[in-house]
Amino acid sequence: MTNPAKTPGEGSEPQTPTEDAAGATAESGPLGTLTEPREGEPLLKVSGLKKHFPVTKGLFKRQVGAVLAVDGIDFEVRAGETLGVVGESGCGKSTMGRLITRLLEPTAGKVDFEGRDITHLGVSAMRPMRRDVQMIFQDPYSSLNPRHTVGSIISAPFKLQGVQPEGGVKKEVQRLLGVVGLSPEHYNRYPHEFSGGQRQRIGIARALALSPKLVVADEPVSALDVSIQAQVVNLLDDLQEELGLTYVIIAHDLSVIRHVSDRIAVMYLGKIVEITDRQSLYDTPMHPYTRALLSAVPVPDPRRKAAGGRERILLQGDVPSPMNPPSGCRFHTRCWKATEVCRTKEPPLVSLAPGHQTACHHPENAPDQEPGDTKLLRTAAAVKEPS
Ligand SMILES: Nc1ncnc2c1ncn2[C@@H]1O[C@H](COP(=O)(O)OP(=O)(O)OP(=O)(O)O)[C@@H](O)[C@H]1O
Ligand code: SF4
Ligand SMILES: [Mg+2]
Repeated sequence: MTNPAKTPGEGSEPQTPTEDAAGATAESGPLGTLTEPREGEPLLKVSGLKKHFPVTKGLFKRQVGAVLAVDGIDFEVRAGETLGVVGESGCGKSTMGRLITRLLEPTAGKVDFEGRDITHLGVSAMRPMRRDVQMIFQDPYSSLNPRHTVGSIISAPFKLQGVQPEGGVKKEVQRLLGVVGLSPEHYNRYPHEFSGGQRQRIGIARALALSPKLVVADEPVSALDVSIQAQVVNLLDDLQEELGLTYVIIAHDLSVIRHVSDRIAVMYLGKIVEITDRQSLYDTPMHPYTRALLSAVPVPDPRRKAAGGRERILLQGDVPSPMNPPSGCRFHTRCWKATEVCRTKEPPLVSLAPGHQTACHHPENAPDQEPGDTKLLRTAAAVKEPS
């Protein structure tokens, strides 16, 4: 995220940098003493990650197939950066988020956090790691227990981890409420007394309680009114500046994460099809699917709008079933550029420009990877709809 540092709410205090035993910079901020990640280092590394959900049938629950929700993805998240993850509904974004926070056990692949393989850590070995990696959930209505007060919801991580903050849990929770722009007096209230935006702030306070290093936010604003979305996105931005957080922010379209992401990964049917920095993705998208997603993002600059803005590409049909994804390139049933090779050969995710990886035989803004294969598929020609 690129916004200048701001005070996110009441309760902020001056910060004094200190040095911990490992040599990492620590700051005394509104959440207490925080270890600031070293900028630019990979905090998280994901290799060949897969999650296949078995599909069973009958009394004996015989496995008849599998949902290939995440089907072999590789990426890194550097300390201090925000990786945005976008893609249509059902493409595996939430499953990916749950895999990297270890709320789900992967079918295959590897997750490294701070250089340590955490893929198959057991419950007790994972406990200290749980402090470092937190998740903000999509729906602020269902993710907060309606029978618990705000105080007990935000206190829960301290109790679960056996952490006793200086000054006591209540004082710390009240301070956290201030950090996310709520009032310490909200401590004894119940979730139903709050609006959607305020509830999401409560969810953010809970996620920040143990001073995590990585926060995975799964569609943090999609359940909120458009007018409130910007406030919550700005809050996340401010907190990142102040606390040195690293984010993975999941969204189903590019308009939400365009301002907050340093890099963006585009997912389609369980695969990453393009990953690069935000500027390259917006200026020179390479994957046709990315181009289609971008064409749906409103163009804010009136001069660019007057000049025609972006050509609108209407994707036909729904995302195919992840139980039986199309052969070759999974996008070939909807791609207006698909040729025979797209149907038979899966394009690998390769670097086609510095820091810009794409999985496409006939990319935009890059040399054709299969120049000899020029005959458009009939299905592809039928769905070609730029207008
Ligand atoms: N526990 C589960 N058991 C079986 N299938 C699942 C399970 N969780 C997710 N899936 C399936 O895996 C696929 C990917 O789901 P996921 O929720 O990760 O997608 P998503 O990109 O987050 O979608 P959305 O934008 O709608 O939230 C979907 O087909 C979904 O139905
Ligand atoms: S590989 Fe072929 S079908 Fe897939 S995105 Fe590229 S051009 Fe389209
Ligand atoms: Mg989801």
